[in-house]
Amino acid sequence: MKLFLLSCIITLSFAQDINPRKFPPNFLLGVANAATQIEGGWNEDGKSESIWDHFAHNFPEKIADKSNADIACDSYHKYKEDVALIKAMGLNHYRLSIAWTRVLPTGRTDNVNEAGVQYYKNVFKELRDNGIIPMVTLYHWDLPQILQEEMGGFMNESIADLFGDYARFCFETFGEDAKWWVTINEPKQVCQVGYGAGRYAPGIKSNGVGDYVCAKNLLLAHARAWHIYDEEFREKNQGKVAIVVDGSWAEPGSDNEADKAASERALHFGVGLYGNPVFNGDWPELVKQRVAERSKLEGFSESRLPAFTDEQIKYINGTSDYLALNHYSTMMASDSEAPIGQPSFDNDISARSWAKPEWTPTSQWWFYDLPWGLRKFLNWLKNTYNNPEIVITENGYVDNDDTLEDDRRIHYLRGYLSACLDAIYEDKVNLIGYTAWSIMDDWEWTGGYSSFLGMYKIDFKDPDIPRIKRKSAGYFTTIAHNRCLID
Ligand code: NOJ
Repeated sequence: MKLFLLSCIITLSFAQDINPRKFPPNFLLGVANAATQIEGGWNEDGKSESIWDHFAHNFPEKIADKSNADIACDSYHKYKEDVALIKAMGLNHYRLSIAWTRVLPTGRTDNVNEAGVQYYKNVFKELRDNGIIPMVTLYHWDLPQILQEEMGGFMNESIADLFGDYARFCFETFGEDAKWWVTINEPKQVCQVGYGAGRYAPGIKSNGVGDYVCAKNLLLAHARAWHIYDEEFREKNQGKVAIVVDGSWAEPGSDNEADKAASERALHFGVGLYGNPVFNGDWPELVKQRVAERSKLEGFSESRLPAFTDEQIKYINGTSDYLALNHYSTMMASDSEAPIGQPSFDNDISARSWAKPEWTPTSQWWFYDLPWGLRKFLNWLKNTYNNPEIVITENGYVDNDDTLEDDRRIHYLRGYLSACLDAIYEDKVNLIGYTAWSIMDDWEWTGGYSSFLGMYKIDFKDPDIPRIKRKSAGYFTTIAHNRCLID
């Protein structure tokens, strides 16, 4: 390792232009997590129930180990410990989320929970005192349950106003500390999995219909928040606001045109459904055509994909100050025939995801350690969305083994960080930050406590919920302290 560090220094001084393994000077290097997954204190000090609290409490059979997030990592009480770990790792930014239910328990601004507000003020102070830049997600999937019950959550267009009010409240209350904002995390999981397939909270199964109604309302909600920031806070606070898109890279299954088209469909439905309206304006053409054709064959009187008005297209276009990407894996995509008469988002895409036999299997069917996929993805985003600034807001190794000797995670991090440097220096991708998921094990939604992504292990059985260092934490620390990729 020492030799490698020396090579970092030498490369930096003499060969800046030829892909030094150094991260650029202001590059954000950090870790991420989200309120529901770490905080616990699910009903403490005035916090209300979120759709995920409700889902886990009422449908435990939908969670791998029937667990819930009532206590999770107990970060509600242990945030100082968490910040100390981030500081000790030498990281300069931390992506966290605000629980809507903790600050506005009814979901509306006429009922502010001061204890919840104080909690986040304390967290921001701790970060400030330790020189760590916060990146704050407003919505990491935890809608107040009451809004789901009262107005149908993201199925109702008025979510845009409610979300806008919540966003304004957060910009106003925390805006001096937080300059990097994310409106909504992984809209595809919110809409396609939560309101379409129904596997995630709020568990609504609507077979390719609600998926798109949600997508439209969610984009309007995101845009509302961005405009509020732009008009009321940008001048004063000088921050940036983005939406997070997520996806695996879809490598064409072969050189034939049908497989190449399947790969494009996977990308434009997966990322483009949200990326295109925000960066280019309107739904991707390919998505519009496909859903319209299939809807017609299925006997719908109009496309299941609701159209935007011209005014809405303009309102949403240009509302991301950087492109925030969550990316974990790559899969092959081949053309597949989807049955007509069974509307669903997946059938609209009709691309079969598969893995090459030579790829090393992991704990999840969809997860492979293939950093070249990230590099291709970054280039695709650069070309499709006019070379935006990009921050990787999540990337990390998913394991079903909670070993402390997590060499597989180290291998993954090394490869993906190397792909980032190649993208920056060789491909001139405007990549300005990398955020690893995650600082510590957490409650992984339907994966419960049986899926491990942390550089610190959490012993959930110990009442003290200790953070225990894994080998990868040491590896990432050396990288962060030297701001250079080491072997
Ligand atoms: C993406 C989600 O944003 C995050 O909440 C989740 O834990 C990670 N994927 C890992 O599964």
